[in-house]
Amino acid sequence: MPATSLEEQITKYLTDAHSIEEQALAQMERAPGMAGDPDLARIYAEHRAETREHEQAVRDELHRRGAEPSTVKDIAGKVGGWGMVLFARLNPDTPGKLAVHAYSYEHMELAAYELLRRMAERAGEEPVRDLAQRLAAQERAMADRIAERWDLALDASLKEKGADDLREEVVKYLRDAHALEAQALHLLQADPGFPELASVFAEHLEQTREHQRLIDERLSQLGSGPARFQAGALRVGALNLASFFKLQPDTPVKLAGFAFAFEALETGAYEMLARTAERAGDSDTAALARLINGQERTAAERVSGTWDAAVEAVASERAGVS
Ligand SMILES: [Fe+2]
Ligand SMILES: [Fe+2]
Ligand SMILES: [Fe+2]
Repeated sequence: MPATSLEEQITKYLTDAHSIEEQALAQMERAPGMAGDPDLARIYAEHRAETREHEQAVRDELHRRGAEPSTVKDIAGKVGGWGMVLFARLNPDTPGKLAVHAYSYEHMELAAYELLRRMAERAGEEPVRDLAQRLAAQERAMADRIAERWDLALDASLKEKGADDLREEVVKYLRDAHALEAQALHLLQADPGFPELASVFAEHLEQTREHQRLIDERLSQLGSGPARFQAGALRVGALNLASFFKLQPDTPVKLAGFAFAFEALETGAYEMLARTAERAGDSDTAALARLINGQERTAAERVSGTWDAAVEAVASERAGVS
């Protein structure tokens, strides 16, 4: 990797942030029409306006630095290391999955700006630091608004499907959860390149194995064996996250951001599972979903606790090269 100044590194992250916002905008253009509920539609439309402003603000900052937004059309080629390819493949098809997807995506944006803010602080770039801080606050607020509306999203999903067989829905959500945990196992075996995140990954890997075992067990109790698993709409296909991230030179920062968004994806999925199970009168599955979700939330917090170290790891590697 050629040596780059911290300033160039920040320009590169701004280019990534710009691509993330472009993808966010494409999603927020579609989201109100898929929301299935007027209140959800309203918050998506409001965030669409904010997202337009974010795209503009980041583009302006790039221009101030004499740089241009990336013109690469392929999402993976643009910001592959941020895990955008995962979000592009999720393709939510119900109001519930849309809410889960959007919740996770807001967390990826939040992580990107929190990491950018730290880099800018290190470089003494106050305008970028302030910009990153301002946009991070709006992404966090949007994630919080979605989290206040899981019940609305579930209502809309059940209504749209005309699903009166809630127990079948519970099984579908359990299978989705199983597929997500399988993907988590891949992710958590990646080498993040710095010890702080490595120890968070090691601990959560053990928890994740247990989550998958508990979900297997619950599916069997409900009469659905592992052989009948079909990955649901939340599946991420044959994407090998671990090898994918190894290709990125600034893996510590991107992996620390992506892992945070992935934990949010799991949290959203378990929020929906717990609520569906409660409505189905399946208190065992609801209790299991809440138990696992508590650990996903803790894991997300621990991942975000490594962000200073992640920026440090990339900055010192850069210093070592130059
Ligand atoms: Fe944004
Ligand atoms: Fe956003
Ligand atoms: Fe997790």
